[in-house]
Amino acid sequence: MTLSDATQARFAREVAKYPKEQAQSAVMACLSIVQQEQGWVSPESEAAIADYLGMPTIAVHEVTTFYNMYNQRPVGKFKLNVCTNLPCQLRDGQKALHHLEHKLGVHMGETTADGLFTLQQSECLGACADSSVMLVNDRHMCSFMSNEKLDQLVDGLKAAEGKA
Ligand code: FES
Repeated sequence: MTLSDATQARFAREVAKYPKEQAQSAVMACLSIVQQEQGWVSPESEAAIADYLGMPTIAVHEVTTFYNMYNQRPVGKFKLNVCTNLPCQLRDGQKALHHLEHKLGVHMGETTADGLFTLQQSECLGACADSSVMLVNDRHMCSFMSNEKLDQLVDGLKAAEGKA
């Protein structure tokens, strides 16, 4: 896979933030750039990043798989990550996940047929007291997600896409 000039220029800006011999420090930023541009991080992208940064492909893959915000396969337009770690489990995290599975008609880890939603579990989001909590597209945190609020969120996103 060949990186576009525009992508390489973005990589170069990240690499420039570190001493010359530490280009590998930009690996997370490069993975984020690829994910922004392509929606996920493919094995081919990992190899291209490894090549660019002069590091083994497996070392790039280790970073991709360590952080759960990197998508290792294509995802829907809206990625819903529900926290099901133990403190949230004790306060309805699992219930919220099941409610979304039922509402969206998919199992955890799957994407809806219209490509709109991917439902995933997440590790602790650091807001255990606000359970049920979830992240939308790795950016937007939603707290105290009752079934009603989950319905509103999904229905609102569908309506915004003209698919209500
Ligand atoms: Fe869910 Fe901490 S366990 S936010």
